Amino acid sequence: MPTLQITRTTAPRLRVADPDLGFGQVFTDHILVLDYTQEAGWQNARIEPYGPFTLDPATLVFHYGQAVFEGFKAFRSDSGGIVLFRPADHIARLNASCGRLCIPPLDEALVLNAVKTLVRLDADWVPRTFGCSLYIRPCIIATEAGLGVRPSKTYRFFTIMSPVGAYYREGFRPVRILVSDRYARAVKGGLGAAKTPANYAASLLAEQDAKAAGFTQVLWLDGVERRYVEEVGTMNIFFRLGDELVTAPLEGTILAGITRDSVIRLAHQWGLRVSERRLSVAEILEAHAGGRLQEVFGSGTAAVISPVAELRFAERSLMINQGRVGAWTQRLFETLTGIQYGKIEDPFGWTLPILP
Ligand SMILES: Cc1ncc(COP(=O)(O)O)c(C=O)c1O
Repeated sequence: MPTLQITRTTAPRLRVADPDLGFGQVFTDHILVLDYTQEAGWQNARIEPYGPFTLDPATLVFHYGQAVFEGFKAFRSDSGGIVLFRPADHIARLNASCGRLCIPPLDEALVLNAVKTLVRLDADWVPRTFGCSLYIRPCIIATEAGLGVRPSKTYRFFTIMSPVGAYYREGFRPVRILVSDRYARAVKGGLGAAKTPANYAASLLAEQDAKAAGFTQVLWLDGVERRYVEEVGTMNIFFRLGDELVTAPLEGTILAGITRDSVIRLAHQWGLRVSERRLSVAEILEAHAGGRLQEVFGSGTAAVISPVAELRFAERSLMINQGRVGAWTQRLFETLTGIQYGKIEDPFGWTLPILP
């Protein structure tokens, strides 16, 4: 394994107390960096003090968006220990995104080890308050300078980390969601399954309109027929129809959420009926009319589980479970956060302890 050079900071960064933490506003003391050249491959792994990069204005990433990223978390248990939640799955997904964006893959074991070293070095930044966590953001950008649409010959991988506040400071907050029939996020064969900035750029205008209308997030329909539900903002989405838990299938248009997978595996373990299948707006409206649309929730690293109170389709507005959090939603949230914070046993091996 190549050596990891470590240069410790001599100017520690300003801390923010746990109750004042937001999302992605403050960053820890150190950053992990690797560079890629065609001759040497991924090399020069190093941890340095957090700080800006200098890049030529003609750098390819600025012009053609050749970049991928990830997002996962470190949690601190009551006893002070630190775990990462499913880091190997996130690094594998980073490589899957690389494949779609013509970015050379990384050695996953090397990256995981380097990230562990980074978290240990900045361990004091992992918040101690339940609900808070350390968000870990690996990213790869094309660094070759020169215009012309082509895959870059050089890349930079880096990982920054941000202590983040409790998502549900005042308790579970069911959200209002607007179904977008105007904009499309992804189509089969496109970028939808990759975690790449273009997907988020494509979502901005729709989310801006949704927020202006008083909604929290946008629910995307399939980009071709505009009939089937896909995902929400930065979350996958689940519908409880009677005794069936339904979520969109992985057909290349949505991100294969790690939380989505955790929900599916927990639901299977509990003996629930889970379907990864196409679910049309018509079927949702019919289920609601028949009283079978019992729960709707999003799943993702940031919120873990996000209950949905209202879904707005064009002129139709559906209240879900009278705006209250459903039983499956509550149980999934408590179980997942319980596993993450070491309050309940992890039978799946999802948590990777990195400090006792
Ligand atoms: C578009 C999109 N869908 C779904 C998710 C949920 O994925 P995960 O559960 O791995 O965080 C995310 C967040 O990463 C996302 O950005």
